[in-house]
Amino acid sequence: MIYSSQPAPIGVFDSGFGGLSILREIRKVLPQYDYIFLGDNARAPYGNRSFQLVYDFTLQAVKYLFSQGCHLVILACNTASAKALRSIQQRDLENLDPNRRVLGVIRPTVEEIGNITKSRNVGIFGTPGTVQSLSYDIEIAKMHPDIKVFSHACPMWVPLVENRESDGPGADYFVEKDVKALMAQCGDIDSIILGCTHYPLLYNKIRKYTPESVMIIEQGPIVAASLKDYLHRHPEMEARCTQGGTCQYCTTEDASRFSPLASIFVNHTVEAKHVIL
Ligand code: DGL
Repeated sequence: MIYSSQPAPIGVFDSGFGGLSILREIRKVLPQYDYIFLGDNARAPYGNRSFQLVYDFTLQAVKYLFSQGCHLVILACNTASAKALRSIQQRDLENLDPNRRVLGVIRPTVEEIGNITKSRNVGIFGTPGTVQSLSYDIEIAKMHPDIKVFSHACPMWVPLVENRESDGPGADYFVEKDVKALMAQCGDIDSIILGCTHYPLLYNKIRKYTPESVMIIEQGPIVAASLKDYLHRHPEMEARCTQGGTCQYCTTEDASRFSPLASIFVNHTVEAKHVIL
């Protein structure tokens, strides 16, 4: 397929609602651009799916956003960034369109963590897929060899968010259990990365069970600052991003299920469109 060369919105993709926590922060820092958000809610969660399936689904999403004209796509999903980004960047882009770009969320987070931790003991919460991929361990070891990483997978957290249970007592049960399991690995963790874009939606519960001295790091502001910097360093890409301040929302689920919850997350009325990938 030949994709349109006209300037277009920036694409933002996640398996579900989590990416909205990234989109919201991006739009605070870069409100002038247009965006298309795509949530693959019908097939979320991705976190316990195989490498191959996460790659296949993510590639479909990227192709969809390219077909909508996007020149730049942000994978606002750690699981997709861990399991699909490298193959898409190194293998698929060349065939799809070598001038388009796909960026992830892990690298900017890893870049930033070196400036945050003092004890050099960092905790990571992620989906089973992200934790098993060792992406954070590998990237942190490359960039900050003095930092020790302690990871813990939280397979129940994304389903809690996708099923609108993030404020309920079930969330307390699982969050307390998982926070204790991570903190038991090392008493000197001073910062925890929420390495899944759904987890900021559980922030209050995570804060409640995490020792006060431990910093909880959300990726939204980090990814937003990194995108701003990227566009500044790549004026040729910046020129291909339209500036109308709009956002279209697409979901693979029933749009009438997606829109009300998405409206709460982004603080304005969302009228999503149902799409098939
Ligand atoms: N929000 C995504 C992430 O950052 C994916 C969660 C999932 O679908 O399991 O990993």
